[in-house]
Amino acid sequence: MPQYQVVKGARDIFPDEIVRWHYVEGVVHRLALLYGYSEIRTPVFEYTELFQRSIGATTDIVGKEMFSFLPDPQGRSITLRPEMTAGVMRAVLQKNLLSTAPVHKLFYLSELFRKERPQAGRQRQFSQFGAELLGVSSPAAVAEVITFMMQVFETLGIRGLKLRINTLGDSSDRARYREVLRDYLTPFYDRLDLASRERFEKNPLRILDSKNPDMQEIIAGAPRLHDSLSSEAVADFEKVRFYLDSRRIAYDIDYRLVRGLDYYCHTAFEVTSPELGAQDAIGGGGRYDGLAKELGSSGEVPASGFAAGMERVLITMEKQGLFAALSPPGPKVYVVAQQQGLLDHAMQVAYRLRSEGISTEVDLAGRSMKAQMRDANRMRACFALFIGEDEVVSGAYALKNLVTADQTSQSLDAVIELINQYSGKEPES
Ligand code: HAM
Repeated sequence: MPQYQVVKGARDIFPDEIVRWHYVEGVVHRLALLYGYSEIRTPVFEYTELFQRSIGATTDIVGKEMFSFLPDPQGRSITLRPEMTAGVMRAVLQKNLLSTAPVHKLFYLSELFRKERPQAGRQRQFSQFGAELLGVSSPAAVAEVITFMMQVFETLGIRGLKLRINTLGDSSDRARYREVLRDYLTPFYDRLDLASRERFEKNPLRILDSKNPDMQEIIAGAPRLHDSLSSEAVADFEKVRFYLDSRRIAYDIDYRLVRGLDYYCHTAFEVTSPELGAQDAIGGGGRYDGLAKELGSSGEVPASGFAAGMERVLITMEKQGLFAALSPPGPKVYVVAQQQGLLDHAMQVAYRLRSEGISTEVDLAGRSMKAQMRDANRMRACFALFIGEDEVVSGAYALKNLVTADQTSQSLDAVIELINQYSGKEPES
């Protein structure tokens, strides 16, 4: 066992796996373009208060899952980002982006950090793709975000996902409901666990998100937030449902869905995958009209967004056999030096081929021809180009098609033309 191991809760991704990431990322990029979203990249760390204010001080993420540290003894605490929405909103407000156009549609593929107990599908460093639609507050906006997310899953070919949606109303609906919920919970106060007692005063809605089975029993009988909603909030939710229905997106209404982050209002949603076991949320999101104000903005920035866990998407796709046809692309040409002394010439030829846009491998270790041919086959190269004394003198190179075993001898210019005409069929492994 080597002395140093990867840190618990983090993972290395090797080339055989990276093709899967590129494939999923490619679909995300393509669909983002279709929906008119542009990519944003924000720093991996932010000031800790940003997350405390946005995600909420009583959430699990802020309470116990953040990697926070002081950059220097006098500095302000900073935190490795546990999610993207807060940082994206911070960046948009800081640059006053909405003064340039009223609506901004942004997407990202990013690394996140949460100090959770690692298990299958749950890591301490993980990756999300997601999108934020800023500057428009409407059921249509949140419906578009859901549609975008579901289309990514559908394009990837993922089957059996379940979308659950709920409405959390606006801030006055939730204030009303907090009182109703406290009244309901008061007789159970002695049975509440420590975390729920803390939440009872500050944010009783969070109790609904408790994973403790003892709490779930109490939660099951709680009045529904839905019954405290204003007629406007109900109508808003109906409109979201109308859009999803008209796009034939199947969903269940889950009146208990509150999500693990505090910034949501009106519609919130979550998607679960049948392949994931205990950590079955593959993506989620919702509307967060109040976040900008919470972060000190003088104006409203209504917004909606979603994020999906890359690792969970990849696990699901793997289990559903959706990667069977994917393998790392091999080089087009393997330049084989017939003797060690010809390596310089082989390298020159390789550079020439690469400058023509042809992917080329050459054995830099100066191994035997047999070893080079073995390498060429292992890498699934399409052609072998042989460099021998005769080739160097005559300028005519032997080119072997490794699929058909056809061989020809041509000038380098002719070889390049031939390779470029080649249809790209790869040899059998
Ligand atoms: P979230 O539900 O906390 O939402 O995370 C979204 C997805 O990230 C989850 O459904 C899950 O697939 C993945 N995920 C979360 N934690 C982990 C982990 N420890 N290991 C592996 N995967 C994980 C958000 O982050 C919101 N920012 C979504 C959003 C965007 N809301 C509005 N805009």
